[in-house]
Amino acid sequence: MQEDRILRSALKSKVISAEESASFFKDGMVVGASGFTRGGDTKVVLKELAKRAQKEPLKIQLFTGASLGHGTDADLADANALIKRLPFQVDAILRKHINAEDLLFVDQHLGETSELLINGDLPKIDIAVIEATQILEDGSIIPTTSVGNNVAFMDMADKVIIEINTAIPLEIRGFHDIFQQGKAPHKKIIPITASDTRIGTESIPLDPEKIIGIVFHDITDMTGDIVPPDENTAAIASHILDFLGNEVKKGRLTKSLLPLQCGIGKVANAVMSGFLKGDFENLTMYSEVLQDSTFELIDAGKMDFASATSMTVSKGCYDKFMNNLETYRKNVVFRPQNISNAAEVIRRLGVIGINTALEVDLYGNVNSTHVGGTKMMNGIGGSGDFARNAYMSIFVTSSTAKDNKISSVVPMVAHHDHTEHDVDVLVTEKGLADLRGLAPIERVPIIINNCVHEDYKDEFLDYFNRAKAKGGQTPHLLDEVYKWHTRFNETGSMKA
Ligand code: COA
Repeated sequence: MQEDRILRSALKSKVISAEESASFFKDGMVVGASGFTRGGDTKVVLKELAKRAQKEPLKIQLFTGASLGHGTDADLADANALIKRLPFQVDAILRKHINAEDLLFVDQHLGETSELLINGDLPKIDIAVIEATQILEDGSIIPTTSVGNNVAFMDMADKVIIEINTAIPLEIRGFHDIFQQGKAPHKKIIPITASDTRIGTESIPLDPEKIIGIVFHDITDMTGDIVPPDENTAAIASHILDFLGNEVKKGRLTKSLLPLQCGIGKVANAVMSGFLKGDFENLTMYSEVLQDSTFELIDAGKMDFASATSMTVSKGCYDKFMNNLETYRKNVVFRPQNISNAAEVIRRLGVIGINTALEVDLYGNVNSTHVGGTKMMNGIGGSGDFARNAYMSIFVTSSTAKDNKISSVVPMVAHHDHTEHDVDVLVTEKGLADLRGLAPIERVPIIINNCVHEDYKDEFLDYFNRAKAKGGQTPHLLDEVYKWHTRFNETGSMKA
């Protein structure tokens, strides 16, 4: 035990092993765990729980911030330890179990989970498992590389297990901004007027009586590989940069743009890296997750400040951040995810949201979550929190998937995550469609000309012309809208 990690002396007697901590869990319990896209996740306690579940019947409902790292989601799913999982995941093994209906998965707007908890609309948390850097004298905790839903989990849980991660330097204290809004009808206004506004405290309050165990470990966050931009992602980035450059020329934006939000995935990271080259300056982010590109922009002097709830980066970037906390202190803040994704703040700041679609349709509806309309990919994440409330909502996707056998632009998306009402701009490697202010039938020719792959253009035009002949505000041939999807299921290709 490192003495300086627990400043409230009475709690030092609560230190136990990870194995002992697993004995607290009972079949059917609801567990709230820290972790957001691999940042600040619980790294040892849930692993031990999975081991126990391999040997005896033990199933829990697991709520987190977002996805967990270190294969924890996979271990729990393989051990048949999950009744229900929410609100997001990215694990291939867990995904397989979800789509095999081995457990229930609730795909939730990430900004909403803690409100549902606080309002009593979700089951009460029996045990919260929270990763921390340090426990302060008053029992409050300093988080690590994410805040996620930890504030609500700790507030609502009957009992709390703290995982103290000694791999995180104590100097991370001060990077977090903890704010609790309370419950309607007395919710507080969130007084954030810029990405760098600080409104709260540096630690999360916790009644020390709730702590039933403290487990030490020194495991760093799981890092990822940066996927270098390919031809398609580079083209998408270039279309967006040209488009935003034109918005500056037209006087609608300045060279600092507005606070940027960028989703997860290789396309999103390539777009952000593209800002390194553009004629933009003093950029800011009001986003959910910080990726390598954020730190590249800060290092290059292109970005002044980035606000998020978590970071998920490569090993090189992770080490650079941890070794230079004093340098990054003026550039980065981590907030609870109901604040990083708050509609009120996103709308006030005028965020430019850039998120990724699996498929889009000819009117601008977006499917980000369900492959072929039925199989869960990752989840909606925060994309809906931002898309609905952003100053400008941009969705990107390659025009085709799986060696051109799938067109990512289809007559009608097979699952609706973001409706045409929330989508301002669509971008593929082929080009960009600015849909702002356009009626449905005005959108179609622009999307077909600018975004559709040439292999699918003729059939698209044929579909639209026949639909248009039948009339309506939003013309469709309802008996044909999913013909491309069913053709893919039958023949392995959407092509006629
Ligand atoms: N039909 C079927 N599969 C498709 C497809 C389509 N229309 N479009 C893409 N795919 C497949 C790809 O082939 C790839 O498959 P693989 O993993 O077997 O190679 C996979 O989906 C991922 O696509 P990729 O092109 O690599 O994009 P990505 O890494 O940028 O991820 C999303 C795209 C949509 C899955 C990802 O961005 C996501 O989960 N978004 C939703 C959550 C979100 O936006 N969160 C951020 C908010 S802050």
